[in-house]
Order: sequence, then structure tokens, then C-alpha cells
Amino acid sequence: MENHFYRDTWAEVDLNAIKHNIKQMKMIYQSPKKVYAVVKANGYGHGDVEVAKAALEAGADQLAVALLDEGIRLRKHIPDTPILVLGRIRPRDAQIAAWHNLTVTVFQADWVVEARQYLHSNLNVHIKFDTGMNRLGIRTAAEAYDVLKELKSTSIEITGVYSHLATADEDERTHLEKQLKRFRQYIEEFKPQLPEEIEFHIGNSAGAMRFKDSMYDAVRFGIGMYGLYPSELVKEQTGIPLKPAFSLISQLSHIKKINPGETISYGATYTALEEEWVGTVPIGYGDGWIRKLQGFEVIIDGKKYPIVGRICMDQFMVKLDRYIPIDTKVTIIGENNGEFVSTDDVANHLETINYEIPCMINERVPRVYFE
Ligand SMILES: Cc1ncc(COP(=O)(O)O)c(C=O)c1O
Repeated sequence: MENHFYRDTWAEVDLNAIKHNIKQMKMIYQSPKKVYAVVKANGYGHGDVEVAKAALEAGADQLAVALLDEGIRLRKHIPDTPILVLGRIRPRDAQIAAWHNLTVTVFQADWVVEARQYLHSNLNVHIKFDTGMNRLGIRTAAEAYDVLKELKSTSIEITGVYSHLATADEDERTHLEKQLKRFRQYIEEFKPQLPEEIEFHIGNSAGAMRFKDSMYDAVRFGIGMYGLYPSELVKEQTGIPLKPAFSLISQLSHIKKINPGETISYGATYTALEEEWVGTVPIGYGDGWIRKLQGFEVIIDGKKYPIVGRICMDQFMVKLDRYIPIDTKVTIIGENNGEFVSTDDVANHLETINYEIPCMINERVPRVYFE
């Protein structure tokens, strides 16, 4: 894909890394077991269409998104592969999903009653059970009987049954075991009423990477596909070698020497104690590089330098140790001459999880793809 942009800040997405990570999963889940590439939220900020295509090329079997809109967008570029919409769609949009050959998630009897009024062609659905996440899903056997009753004599076909794990990345397994047990019980109870050719799945990346014997027919591989570990524990316990796909790059737009006593940026929160070289980097909170990242470090020529003063909407300043020419590469996330700033480093600074970091770098930052 050609990229046209005129700014000196961009994100690089390594599609080879995506392929490598999918291949790691496909070594564990060989056919007939399936790997879903989860590309919701614009492929966790990496770019949904590009990531989906790379994942499919590397052996992913199916795709999953959160929203109907995301599914429709993907379907325009990927005509045949099954795409599962993980969130609830509006019943009145059921026919839209059917037209685009999208599989939707169902867990409410009332949804079926309303949706069938709008449906005049076949719609594939996966039934979702809530086994302990308490977000979406059928919570009791009685609810399940209601849903299955309403699904009879409709053009809706059940092609899967699934649930979602809340704590698969954690050491403590009590909640996980409870969820797996509930899922097993639901399957035992309802299997006789379900079509024979049907997929059961419960695993996200953490579940898939840690508990392959409990994952049934398919896994929904999200964060791991992007080369990030769901937690340190998953990284250490599994030893599965993932490659991060996301880097964030900029270039120095200005450099100057400031005098002792001079301050930097809004609020004059940073004061130079001596003569200091200060560079300007053209990315800010308007791009998703938020003000809480003040004090974090970026890499230039293999050396880390701190962000000083408040981060502005479009720019921030770094304290340098010497003159560095304008246009020199600044690595904000990624590798630069042997030095490395990881997505996890950014997440740790912000006291959040790595999932949030590529998602928060918004569409103002162009994505550049390479293999
Ligand atoms: C229902 C569902 N399945 C699978 C995933 C993928 O999870 P992960 O990115 O941890 O692999 C998600 C993501 O949050 C999800 O909501």
C-alpha cells in the first residue's frame, strides 16, 4: 500500500512480525484446530486490513472484530474468510450482517425475536456464554434454552459457541478453572441440541499460549499476534518467542542551546540548570502521545534522552547532550542502534497494559507497512 503524508512522524508496522507470531500459534493449533486473528480496534492500532491479510497469508484461519462496522470494512477487502463480530449488534442490523456474510454473536432470546423480523437470508451466529467475565453472554441454562427455542425455525444458523476468559494471564487459577468448568458444563448440556459441525472456543492469547489442552476447536489470538505478551507471566511461562510489530518514529524538527534559568514548554515546568541542548520532536497529545509521558525517554543514535517540559498537542522537547542535526531519527517505540524502548516500557510508565499503547496512537499518525 502506498503511503502519502508530509509529516516527520509515523508508525512502522512489521508485517513479517505478524506472520511470525501467527506461525507460532499455528505450530500449536494445527488443522483442524483454528486460529482467529483478532483485528478489532483497527488491528489494535496497527491497521486492520493489512494485519488481517498478513495473518491469513501466514496461516490464520478466520478473523474477529468487535463491531459490525469493523466487519463490513474488512469484508470489502477480504471477500471469503469467516469474520466473527464479537460485540452485540443491533437486531435491526441482522440483515446487514447477513449481506456481508459476517458471523455475529448472539446471547439474548429477545434479540433473536426482533432480528428474525428483519432477516430474509441466512445468518451465521456464534452463541456466547458468560462463564465469569460478566460482560456479555448467556448466564444460565434457562436463558440458553430460551435462546435456542427462539432460534428454531429461523434462517439463523449456529456455527459456533464461545466464551471469554477474564484471568488467563494471571498466576492464580481459581477463577480460570471455574470458567473452564462452566463452559464444559454448558457444552455437555447443550451439545445434543446444537448442529454437529460447530466450533467451540474460549481462548484469548493468554489462554491459547498457556493452556492448549483446554482450548477446544479454535483460539482468538489478539495481543500475541502483535508480538506483545498478555503479561510477564505468560512470557516467562510459555517461552513462546513473539516479535513486536509496532514502532513509533519521528525526526528532530529543531535544536537549540538554552541558557541556565531558561524554561521549557507550557507552564515553564522545566528549568535548565546549565547550558543545555534541547531538541524538538513533532508528535504530541493530539497524536495520542499523552502528557503523562513527560519524563519518559526516546532514543536518538542509540542513546536515550528524557522528554523535558510539558508535552504539547503536536510536539515535545528532549534534553540532549550535544548538537544533533535536524531530521535525525527519533525512535519513540522500537529499536535504534542497539537501544530499545518497548511498548511495555511505555505501558509501565503510564501504569497501564501494553494493549492500550498502539490503540492510543491515533489515525493522525500514518502507519507504514513493511515486510
Ligand atoms: C471476546 C474476545 N476474544 C478475544 C480477544 C483477544 O484477546 P487477546 O488480545 O488477549 O488475545 C478479545 C480482546 O479483548 C475479546 O474481547
